[in-house]
Formats: sequence, C-alpha cells, structure tokens
Amino acid sequence: MHSTPSSVPIVNCLVVIGLGLIGSSFAKGVRDAGLAQEVVGVDLDPHSRKRAVELGVADRCCNDLAEACKEADVIMLAVPVLALQTLLGQIADLKLTDTIITDVGSVKGHLLTAAQKVFGVLPPLLVPGHPIAGSERSGVEAANSTLFKHHKVILTPHEQTNPDALRCVQQLWQGLGADVESMSVEQHDRVLAATSHLPHLLAFGLVDSLAKRNENLEIFRYAAGGFRDFTRIAGSDPVMWHDIFLANKDAVLQQLDQFRDDLDVLRNAIAEENGRHLLGVFTRARVAREHFSTILAQRAYVETMLDNDLIFLANPGGQVNGTIRVPGDKSISHRAIMLGSLAQGVTEIEGFLEGEDALATIQAFRDMGVVIEGPENGRVVVHGVGLHGLQAPPGPIYVGNSGTTMRLLSGILAAQSFDTTLSGDASLSKRPMNRIAKPLREMGAVIETAPEGRPPLTIRGGQRLTGMHYEMPMASAQVKSCLLLAGMYAGGETSVTEPAPTRDHTERMLSGFGYPVEVNGPTAKIESNHALTATHIEVPADISSAAFFMVAACIAADSELLLEHVGINPTRTGIIDILKLMGADLSLERIREVGGELVADIRVRSSRLKGVEIPLELVPLAIDEFPVLFIAAACAEGRTVLRGAEELRVKESDRIQVMVDGLTTLGVDAQGTPDGIIIEGGPIGGGEVWAHGDHRIAMSFSVAALRAQAPIRIHDSVHVATSFPNFLELCGKVGMRVAVEEQA
Ligand code: S3P
Repeated sequence: MHSTPSSVPIVNCLVVIGLGLIGSSFAKGVRDAGLAQEVVGVDLDPHSRKRAVELGVADRCCNDLAEACKEADVIMLAVPVLALQTLLGQIADLKLTDTIITDVGSVKGHLLTAAQKVFGVLPPLLVPGHPIAGSERSGVEAANSTLFKHHKVILTPHEQTNPDALRCVQQLWQGLGADVESMSVEQHDRVLAATSHLPHLLAFGLVDSLAKRNENLEIFRYAAGGFRDFTRIAGSDPVMWHDIFLANKDAVLQQLDQFRDDLDVLRNAIAEENGRHLLGVFTRARVAREHFSTILAQRAYVETMLDNDLIFLANPGGQVNGTIRVPGDKSISHRAIMLGSLAQGVTEIEGFLEGEDALATIQAFRDMGVVIEGPENGRVVVHGVGLHGLQAPPGPIYVGNSGTTMRLLSGILAAQSFDTTLSGDASLSKRPMNRIAKPLREMGAVIETAPEGRPPLTIRGGQRLTGMHYEMPMASAQVKSCLLLAGMYAGGETSVTEPAPTRDHTERMLSGFGYPVEVNGPTAKIESNHALTATHIEVPADISSAAFFMVAACIAADSELLLEHVGINPTRTGIIDILKLMGADLSLERIREVGGELVADIRVRSSRLKGVEIPLELVPLAIDEFPVLFIAAACAEGRTVLRGAEELRVKESDRIQVMVDGLTTLGVDAQGTPDGIIIEGGPIGGGEVWAHGDHRIAMSFSVAALRAQAPIRIHDSVHVATSFPNFLELCGKVGMRVAVEEQA
C-alpha cells in the first residue's frame, strides 16, 4: 500500500536500478514520503519488477534502461559493486545531460575508477553514496521504507561534484530519516575496510577453516555462544562480499596485514606464556567499544540517556534512616591508579570508586600501555610499568568530565618522552588550565592550550624538567599534586607552598608507595631519582559523597543515619566542622587508620541547624561540599555567610551562581557575592532547577526535597554518575524520594 506522502517532492522522477533490499527500501522510502513525483524500478528479474509494483516500492517498473531513464532526474544504482562498470557504460550510451547519478555501493574508489573509464572524466552529476544499514533479509520482499531512519549515510563527493547534485541526494536521504555525513573516497574505503570488510573476512574465514577440518562435526556440536556470536555475519551474501573484497582490495589488504601482525604478537604471547600482554589486550578490548563511542560523542562516561536531559524528580518529604556505605573516595581512587601505574610491581586497590571520573583515569593509563584489571566490585589490579614505562597513547587522551585527571596527569605527561593531547567534555573544556600550565612551563614543560588556557592541552614530550619552588596563588590540591608528580621527574628539588591547607592524599600516597616527600607546614617537597613500589590500597568511602547524606539526615525529621567507613582525613573534614558549628547532631565512631588514611563511621541525627559565618580556614577543607551546605543553610534558622570561596566559580559549574539560581527558584533568599554567598534560612518551595551538568548540584537539590513543600525537578543530572553512580539507589534505601523522571 502506498501511504500518504508527507513531504514536498524533491525530484520529479527517480529511477532505482536493482530492486534488492537496499534499492527497494530506498525506492519505497522515497515513494512513501512523497519525495519524488514518480519512482521507476529497473531490475533484470521479472518477478521482482512485478512484486515491486504490488508492494508499493515503485510506481512502475521496466526492463529497458533507455525507456526507464528517459525522464529521470536522479538514477540510483543499487546493483552489486562489480556490476557497476557495465551498468555505467549502458547509462553513458543514453547520453543523458542533466541526470544525477548516485549509488549505494560499499566501496567508493572502485566506482570512481569505473566512472572515469566509462565517461573519460568524473561526471559532475555523480554523487557516490553508501548507507550503513542492512538486514538479515534480502530482496524486494524485504523492502522497508524505514530501513535508513537514524542510520548513517556516507556521501563521498569527488572534486568536480556539482553542489546542487550533492544537495539533492543529501535531501533525499535526509527525507528518509538518515543522518548524512560526508568524507573523502579514500577515507571511506579505509574506514570501511577496517570496520566492516575485515570483520566479514574473519567471520567467513573462521567458519570455513573450522568446517574444513576432519573433526568438524565435533567442533560444530560443541560450538557455543562465542562461535555463534563471532560468526553471525558469515551468513551474509557471498556474492556481494566477493565483489566488495575485490573492489576494495588495497585497503582490505592493508588492514589485514596490520591485523596479521597483531595476531602474530598475540600468538607469541601465548607461546611464551606472556600473560601480561594477553591481559593488556583483553582488558583494553573489553572497554574499547564504550570508550570510543564516548569520545566520539564528546561526553562523560555516561552509558545511558546520551542526548537527553536526565531529570531527577525529587518528591517532598521523606526520612533518612539506616546504615549505608557510600562509594570510594574520588581523589584517592584517581591517585591510586596514577601511582600504581608508575610503580614497580602489582598494586591491588579495593574500594575503588567505579564512577566515570575515576574510570577516565584508568582508561588514560590503559591508553599509555598500563595493564589494569577491573574494576570488579571495587577491586582493581594495576600492573605498574615504573616511572619511565609509559608508552605514547594511540591518540588524544579523553578524560570526560574529570578535572582531577586532566590536572594531575599533566604533571606526569610533561616529563614523558612522547607528545600527548588531553581533551574533555563540554564542561571540562571551559575550566581553567593555566593554573597548572604556567608553573609546569616554569619547570621547563612545553604545553599548548586552547584560548584562555582552556582544554584541550597538548603536552610536548622530550623536555627536561627542572625542580623549582612554587608559591601557589590559590589553595588547590590539584595544582599541588600536579607539581609534586612532575617533581618526581624534575632535576633537583620541587617544592610547593599552599596558601591554606588542601587535601594531602598525594603526599600520603607517595609515602605509601615508598617515595619520599617532605612536608613542612604549608610546604611539600619532593626530589627525583626515587622509585614507587607497588602496594595495597584500601580506598575509604568518600566524605564528599557522604556529605549529601549527612546534610540529609540533619534536615529531615525523625532521622538517624550511620555512614560507614568514611575517610576523615583532616584536610577533608570541613563539612563535619561546619555542620557541627551549625548545631548538627553528628558524631564519629570507631575512628581508625586504614592504609595511611583516617576512617570513621559517622552517625547523624535530625538536628535544629542555625546559620553561621563560615570560618575562612574551613573553606578549602570543605571545598566540594558547599552546594549541599547551602541546602543546610537554607534549612537553618538565621543567616549563613560564606566568603573566600571564589574557587567555587570554576568547578564543574559556577557553583555560586547555579546554587543562587536554584535556591531563588525554590523561594529561598540567597545572594551571590564575588567570593561566596549569603543565605537566609526559611521555607523551601518546589520547582524546576538546573544542575548545569554538575553532579554535586544535582545531588544537593535532591537533598533539599526532604524539606521542600512541593516536588523539585532537577534538570541536567546525568553527571551524577561521575562521582556517585549509586546515589539514587542509596537515596531509596534510606527513605528519600528521588528518582529519574520517566521520559514521556
Ligand atoms: C581535588 C581537588 C579539589 C576538588 C576536586 C578534587 C583533588 O580541586 O575540588 O574535586 O582530588 O585533588 P582544586 O584543586 O581545584 O581545589
């Protein structure tokens, strides 16, 4: 049946030659969408021609090319690749003057060669194309007008291609719902040889190789899922693939040769029982598909809801009761991977944060040749390569949303023998990097940044760094850590003085790995020519994640919560001190030391909070906890004033502005100042707030709902997965009413 056309025709007459699956799906799609006044089908097979008309694929069909093409505006060639030259010859004989010719072949170079031979020149109205779509089914019976919807179609115009012809073909494909891209013929054939042709060759080849053996019956009897999955594509059309391999011979051979080399290396690794090589290949391969799609989309390591606004719906009320353990500390997880990678020996990490930021650090070191197993239930095994064992990554290192990865890693990369480029997602690409680039340059590093010192960073290898003393202009643990890490490679001594105490996980962990660091009041000093020795690391629960639940239990009625095994490193406990100043009923139990870090269980009960002036010296010690502390302030009696916190303006979002906006929407009196905020406690309403892709903002407003009078819808919450992947699950467990809003 011919459904009602929905579009204005783009062409008068479309001729589709070859009524196989692709040709007839294109014809039917164009016809159903009303993109052509008339669709004419051409096929050698009379049955296909008859069925094409019956199935509404074409208005009419014929066998005579001249007759079919008489009125054609566009001719679509949908025949096997090796039949193209003959067909083009027949079309050339028709001496058509302004007919656009396009095709759907999987190899483009071959088409151009054929056209050049036949026409003597490359016809300006020839627009080579290739839809990346298919189906297990074939023939006109399988015609499906939606086959190309949301699929890529690659157009490969040549230098003389007429722009109007290109636009016309593009519009036809777009009219079928396809995503049209354009690339050069050479690039197309190379990319497809790798991503499509080589896998098909391997599938056909493996099945045949196994089938030829004497014991083949046995092999097929025991062939399990792996064999079936790997060889599914060996069920494809042999004639079509025969054509493709012959037509794309050079590019396929190149890919095949490279793969044969890699296969030989794998073979040797097995023969020599080189488990490390095998583990390296397997651990990298396991995550590679997700990793590359993440990079292509320029997003953080978020698996779901790619382009959609992820909305948290936080319903008012609820309680906060029970016992929970929040995920591992983000700062410590990053550092464990970095130092473990640069250590000699195998480092085992437990309690690792399986959030996207820390995963970005794992991937960065994998890219540089470090074998890292896991994470599996918080366990990661890092096979250290030593301080000088990193290898050049195959391309730019993508770190998603993670500022810590980018800044700390820069210190290490500045001293390597190879160049690297570090890039990140949209949020990270706005954050300042001069704070590390400037002092690293003073040590001799060569670093290029985008304008205003933003990412991406290109760090040149082969530089000799020299140690220096640096007075940090801001209290930043990331800057301090970056320079200390660079200091492991710099001639002489490197020392950093901080204007106020910041988290000291780098210093502690360096000592844990046996690398001497001297800490003297606000100054940390390191020198080169020592080694890191692998160790065992137990990552405590992240106090910055626990903070959301501390505030939650304080502000909710009738609540008592125990947060287990929380890291209470004195450079991180600003949240506890500030909440206590505000009158929180909060106590530390079972304080103990685990692997050089203090840990405690934290008990919090419903509290009557009061507004306070936050002491300046506590600001760096609670730097990540302010968004949720602002919620505590909104629930407190009286005024809370924060000063000296201008750093909040350059976090994952401008946390002062974004919180002022959200709190104001909820009816809270909140005024931003250049370096802080003034909040008057009072009732919290409901409404729509925006997290601006900042994980801690999304979680803070989720907590606010405990005291809100109406639901709070929190837009742009997908980045919660960067630091706290099971946040919603734990909210549900303690009695909070936050969930992802179902999309209509
Ligand atoms: C971090 C340091 C802090 C903090 C960030 C993690 C670290 O950043 O906000 O979440 O792991 O060193 P600054 O160094 O920019 O203050």
